[in-house]
Amino acid sequence: MKIRFEGLTKRFPNRNKKIKSEVVAVDNFTFEIPDGKLVGLLGPSGCGKSTALNLICGLEVPTEGRIFFDDDDVTDIPAENRGVGMVFQSYALYPHLNVKKNIMFPLQNLKGEQKLTKEQMEQKALEAARIVQIEELMDRKPREMSGGQQQRVAIARALVKMPRVLLLDEPLSNLDARLRIQTREEIKRIQNETKITTVFVTHDQEEAMSISDLIVVMKDGAIHQIGKPQDVYDQPCNLFVAKFLGTPPINVFKGRINGGELYIGDDKIAGKEFVKDISDQEVFIGIRPEGFILRNEDGGKKGVFSSKLLAVEVMGRDTSVVFSSEHSEVEGTRHRAIISSEEHIDPSSEKVFFDINPKKLFVFSGESQERLI
Ligand SMILES: Nc1ncnc2c1ncn2[C@@H]1O[C@H](COP(=O)(O)OP(=O)(O)OP(=O)(O)O)[C@@H](O)[C@H]1O
Ligand SMILES: [Mg+2]
Repeated sequence: MKIRFEGLTKRFPNRNKKIKSEVVAVDNFTFEIPDGKLVGLLGPSGCGKSTALNLICGLEVPTEGRIFFDDDDVTDIPAENRGVGMVFQSYALYPHLNVKKNIMFPLQNLKGEQKLTKEQMEQKALEAARIVQIEELMDRKPREMSGGQQQRVAIARALVKMPRVLLLDEPLSNLDARLRIQTREEIKRIQNETKITTVFVTHDQEEAMSISDLIVVMKDGAIHQIGKPQDVYDQPCNLFVAKFLGTPPINVFKGRINGGELYIGDDKIAGKEFVKDISDQEVFIGIRPEGFILRNEDGGKKGVFSSKLLAVEVMGRDTSVVFSSEHSEVEGTRHRAIISSEEHIDPSSEKVFFDINPKKLFVFSGESQERLI
């Protein structure tokens, strides 16, 4: 089932009574979540992710706009009738109930034709438990399980009614690093198997990139970009999106377009064929860490970008070169390039020279921070 938003907006009164203005938690969402896909809602804390989920499931009422499940307008339909399964950040399991009863819980209040016998409920609970592979834990209480196991119980409980939509609000935040990766692969597998349209909320860009079919990058209630993870990474629409995706993060320099050429300080980073017909102006220049190509001065060729070498960190598969620009820059003084571990770099050198891969080089307006090139 697809989910469509039309001008969806949620405003809250400001909690600080002295400030009259409202908080726009979700600002004019108009887009469509395709059927059977896993969509990652990604953005910093307070950008409106949970509010967006609560609007989809019906726990919040929009200030403006409509929500459609396929062609049905569900905006005025109460949460319990929307067919949505939700997993909260805190799992919210009932501590006094065992796993089986926790999973069965949403089935207990079904009315009329939907009402189930105890055997039917147990059967459905077992099916949901199988999907998340916890069927041998059915008699345990939540406190007798690991965080990852509790997480799966919460997912089974959200799946037991076979929802049309599955909503996951930071479902991995309480797990350790290894379990996080394991559980996110599990979520991807479950989603693949069930083909339930799923919205996954996280502020962790790596998590969103690794499991989403589509990511929605948000800030201050507004959508900045929607696309396949790789497309958003390769073609960020503005400086915020460029900075939000990627580890290590993109390196940002202050620069300028002058006479149709691109400069950081005195270094000419790119020429007219790259800049095309963009007018002269102050810009922000973003270079992904993997976009630096090492050029040793004594190798004869000096690269387009010169910098001061601060450290060389060997990381096995590749090498991290930490440097500072010799020119005025923003975003701190330390920058990072990732090069192959087979490249040779002398850690005692004072300077390091790079060429830049144009596919990893982005130029943003110094004013609006929108992407220019
Ligand atoms: N019930 C409420 N009353 C007033 N303001 C609220 C309410 N709920 C959320 N907000 C505000 O709306 C904005 C979005 O909040 P929301 O919880 O959706 O953010 P989030 O992206 O989920 O953040 P986090 O990553 O920290 O969970 C915030 O500024 C928040 O303070
Ligand atoms: Mg939240």
